Amino acid sequence: MGHELSQPSHQPVLLNESIHSLAIEPNGSYLDATFGRGGHSKAILEQLGHNGQLFVLDRDPQAIEVARRLAEEDPRVTVLPGTFSCLDDLLGDQVKLNGALFDLGISSPQVDQSERGFSFQQDGPIDMRMDNQHGMSASDWLNRASEEEITWVLSQYGEERFSSEIAKHIVQTRARSPIKTTKQLVEIILAVVPSMAAGKHPATKVFQAIRMHINDELSEIREGLPLVIEKIVTTGRLVVISYHSLEHQLVSDVLKRSPANTDSTSNKPRLKKLGQAVRASRDERLSNRRARSALLRTWEKKS
Ligand SMILES: C[S@@+](CC[C@H](N)C(=O)[O-])C[C@H]1O[C@@H](n2cnc3c(N)ncnc32)[C@H](O)[C@@H]1O
Repeated sequence: MGHELSQPSHQPVLLNESIHSLAIEPNGSYLDATFGRGGHSKAILEQLGHNGQLFVLDRDPQAIEVARRLAEEDPRVTVLPGTFSCLDDLLGDQVKLNGALFDLGISSPQVDQSERGFSFQQDGPIDMRMDNQHGMSASDWLNRASEEEITWVLSQYGEERFSSEIAKHIVQTRARSPIKTTKQLVEIILAVVPSMAAGKHPATKVFQAIRMHINDELSEIREGLPLVIEKIVTTGRLVVISYHSLEHQLVSDVLKRSPANTDSTSNKPRLKKLGQAVRASRDERLSNRRARSALLRTWEKKS
C-alpha cells in the first residue's frame, strides 16, 4: 500500500535496522509510540498482513493530523493522540502487542518550523511544546521560573557548565523586558558562554535542556516504557532509538528496574536485551545529522 505523507518531512533514522529488530509477524499488533511523520509506521505497514494492526501515538497535533490521513487510507492503523504516560488508558486492557517502537526526541518538522521555537538557528517565539495546544510554553517558563530552577534545569537536562551564569543573565534580562524569542535567548547565551566548544553551537545544550523540561521528556519515558512492556507478549520485541546520554542511560535503567526483570518471585516472562546497540552507518550519519548520535537497542520478552 502506498501512502503519501505530507510535508514538511522527517527522514526516519535507522529505518531498516529498527524494522529488522521488530521481527514483524504479519498478523501481529504493533505500536509506533512516536509517529512523527510516519516514516517508521509506513515501513511497519509494508511488512504487516491484512490482519495486522498498527497503533500510532504522538502528542503533536500536526503529527496526529498526518496519522489520521494515513488511518483513513489504511484500516490497520489506529491513531492515539496523547503521551507515553497515558498509553495504558489509550490502549485499554485488551490490547496485547507483538512489538513496540520508540524513536525518542523531536522530529525534523518540529525543529524546522521557526514558529515552534525549538531551533536556535532560526528566530521565532520560544514555544518548544511538542503539544502546542496544551501546557506552559518555554517563554512562559523562562519569564516565571526562579533563577535556582533555571540553573537546575540547564545543569540536569543540558549538563551545561555555565548553567548558573546563564540563569542569572536570563533573570537580569527579563527584568528589563520579557524573553519571547529564540533570538533573545541565543543572545543571552552568547553573552555568557565563551566560545564554540567541540564544534557545537553554545546554545545546543540550553535548548535541549529547556525542551526536555517543558515536555517532561524523562518522566514520560520513565512512566511510558513500563506500561508498554506490560502489554508486550512473550517473544514480542521492544525497540528504542535514543539520541543523547540522558536518554540512553534512562532507557537502560527503566529496563533493568522493570518489574518483569526484578520480581524474582514471579514466573512472568523477562525482557532480555538482544545483541549489541546499533549505530547508524557512516553513509546514514553523513546524509542525516540526526542519525549521528542515534543508538538503537532491542529487547525481547522471553519465558
Ligand atoms: C523523532 S520523532 C519520530 C519520527 C518518526 N519515527 C518518523 O519516522 O517520522 C519523535 C516524535 O515523538 C513524539 N513524542 C516525543 N515524546 C512523546 C511523548 N512523551 N508522547 C507522545 N509523543 C511523543 C514527538 O512529538 C515526535 O513527533
